[in-house]
Amino acid sequence: MLEHGGKLLQAAREHGIPLADWLDLSTGVNPAGWPVPEIPPEVWQRLPEDEDGLIDAACTGYGARHVLAVAGSQAAIQALPRLFAPGRVGVAHPGYAEHAQAWRAAGHEVLAVDPAQPDPAGLDVLVLIHPNNPTGQTYDPARLLDWHARLAAHGGALIVDEAFMDCTPEHSLAAHAHRPGLVVLRSLGKFYGLAGARVGFVLAAPTLLARLEALLGPWTVNGPARRLARLALQDRAWAQAARPRLLAAGARLAGLLTRHGLAPAGGTALFQWTLTPRAAELHAALARQGILVRRFDAPASLRFGLPNADADWTRLEGTMKSITSHAASAPSPDAGTPSPPRPAGGE
Ligand SMILES: Cc1ncc(COP(=O)(O)O)c(C=O)c1O
Repeated sequence: MLEHGGKLLQAAREHGIPLADWLDLSTGVNPAGWPVPEIPPEVWQRLPEDEDGLIDAACTGYGARHVLAVAGSQAAIQALPRLFAPGRVGVAHPGYAEHAQAWRAAGHEVLAVDPAQPDPAGLDVLVLIHPNNPTGQTYDPARLLDWHARLAAHGGALIVDEAFMDCTPEHSLAAHAHRPGLVVLRSLGKFYGLAGARVGFVLAAPTLLARLEALLGPWTVNGPARRLARLALQDRAWAQAARPRLLAAGARLAGLLTRHGLAPAGGTALFQWTLTPRAAELHAALARQGILVRRFDAPASLRFGLPNADADWTRLEGTMKSITSHAASAPSPDAGTPSPPRPAGGE
């Protein structure tokens, strides 16, 4: 199993800090997510039905022709490689590491692709994350379509993981995802802040979606989650108000980190990513203050999710100030007691 952010219970136990005292910045999940309504009892009691309006809501919301709901885009990431004959698969690295792991597990040859300079030449499948997690790399949609055309010309495929696309829907390939050899993944976990509901979508040609559906089996998304997903996707007013707020918060976080000598190398509205050789030491120092961030070892870097309440922003600013000025002037003997290296993950 790969390492992921969001392991607050584990951090609380490891550091002996009560759960309620933590500020969890270890994921790219919107801390001010879509407000979840009550679920009527019959939604718990009945089997989920395909005709409940979720697919229409997703097609309309994403501007796609064909959509399959899955139990988080992670479910599709794991299953998709089994729909392709073993081949040469380029996967963005650094990136959400579950992709590479899944293609490898399904018997494909996986090649690490620099997300800043992907090249489909010699590949059967190219997997990109747009915008990339954690580097924040973005792509011109026209270039992506060109890469797709080159791959599809010899029966290959381009897979674009748009888990973090909701703040910038104008860059999405959703409207093109019906083209053979193009697969787009969307998630309700990030922008909508519904990571626990485990809902994602695959946008692709109907034949591929039918094969994926058969592989995953019936009722993969539970009824309450389907209902929440439909209502969230139909709530255009909430999404329109959330986008500028999140974009501003992302810029504010980048400014905060820059003020403390950790200028981000990239990011999105929902997280900022900083390359620093002191990643392990800073991760440990923040954790001792009850602030959990995501640490990567290759390359050594930290990813910060968004604080929400004013008090959380103030707390992050104050802690960063004390940690970075303290470490810069006189590192204490215990300032660099990092936890052991961990495999690269994603979320
Ligand atoms: C880039 C990316 N894609 C997909 C996922 C999976 O998200 P979910 O299964 O919640 O849709 C993650 C989770 O962190 C991610 O970072």
